[in-house]
Amino acid sequence: MSEYPLFALSEEHQAIREAVRDLCEAKVAPYAADVDENARYPQEAADALQAADFHAPHVPEEYGGAGADALATVIVIEEIARVCMASSLIPAVNKLGSMPVLLSGSEELRKKYLTKLASGEGGFSYCLSEPDAGSDAAAMKTRAVRDGDDWVLDGVKRWITNAGVSEYYTVMAVTDPDHPSSARAKGISAFVVEKSDEGVSFGAPEKKLGIKGSPTREVYLDQVRIPADRIIGEEGTGFETAMRTLDHTRVTIAAQAVGVAQGAVDYALSYAKERQQFGKPIADFQGLQFLLADMGMKVEAARQLTYAAAGRSERGDKDLTFFGAAAKCYASDVAMEVTTNAVQVLGGYGYTRDYPVERMMRDAKITQIYEGTNQVQRIVMARQLLSGIQSELP
Ligand code: CAA
Repeated sequence: MSEYPLFALSEEHQAIREAVRDLCEAKVAPYAADVDENARYPQEAADALQAADFHAPHVPEEYGGAGADALATVIVIEEIARVCMASSLIPAVNKLGSMPVLLSGSEELRKKYLTKLASGEGGFSYCLSEPDAGSDAAAMKTRAVRDGDDWVLDGVKRWITNAGVSEYYTVMAVTDPDHPSSARAKGISAFVVEKSDEGVSFGAPEKKLGIKGSPTREVYLDQVRIPADRIIGEEGTGFETAMRTLDHTRVTIAAQAVGVAQGAVDYALSYAKERQQFGKPIADFQGLQFLLADMGMKVEAARQLTYAAAGRSERGDKDLTFFGAAAKCYASDVAMEVTTNAVQVLGGYGYTRDYPVERMMRDAKITQIYEGTNQVQRIVMARQLLSGIQSELP
């Protein structure tokens, strides 16, 4: 028999939730509205998360990290997103950017960069997308050419979260353009690029609907010369590494979605108990109760799927590809619906920036888009279902 109660979080995971929640209520939530209003980096949150070792909790202890497992990392991200989605991108993108190094990098590369990430020397961003290569990621044009002991990178990466703030960047680039189009992914390799490398620069911050505190910028690579040992894994394995990374980190986007949706439910519940109409709290009306019940039910279903996916991420199960995509797709659709309904519960007040639910609704939208649109998630799920992997499992 398991030492844990059946189908419940361990005491350690519950303790992590309580610790992150306390920190977020005290040091992240108070700045969330201002960060959004002024589209400014959540520096207070960044400092608080780093001081508590929640900025990149997934980094293993052997590299000086907190060594949080995939479920603990999900709980950290969920709790931050509950009060400020933009701030939750700090641990989420640090995991996304560094996961290729963790999964496929040499031991030297891991030691060098994961240690720096854990110690707070700099964040890690992930550079896959380009202006003309979004859902079709393998259509990228950025080139990396071998020159003696170096690689020289040239191209433009787009939609890069925390670009300019991060010190380190995982960059996917074409190293062999001569592969037939049916095998173009095999011509892509992954590299670590540093912000201080000559030839690296950034575009203007995108003017976004939500997650305004998290800078999204283009990354320009102009003849960026890096030593050969900055390649992540073998030449030609960069696309596979990029996809394996997303299998793990789509679970963290699901966590953001669950968190922002829970924040909206919590606010709507407290408002419905306070707000009086027709001589009683609106929570007394069955029409509102049904809406609130659906919101709570869907967030809980999304949470359970996300935690199940986190378990698969931690164990590296064969069906992680399906579960990562399913959790991200389902939880983000729930987040959009639930945050929209929270605005509805607050009525006219919900539609103003004096209350947090319109921010949550704007922030939720991105979870249906980034780390692969929900249309792409369905392609990913269908391919794994049709491959038969699911039916091979016990
Ligand atoms: N694990 C391991 N290998 C994988 C894999 C996985 N999950 N998925 C694909 N591969 C391998 C395939 O096996 C294949 O290799 P073989 O030829 O040896 O079989 C190779 O990679 C190419 O795969 P596909 O043929 O499936 O590639 P495709 O061109 O058809 O693309 C896709 C598939 C699923 C649509 C993919 O392009 C995709 O995921 N697109 C969405 C991109 C995305 O998610 N972008 C998000 C950017 S990051 C971001 O948004 C972050 C942020 O800012 C916060």
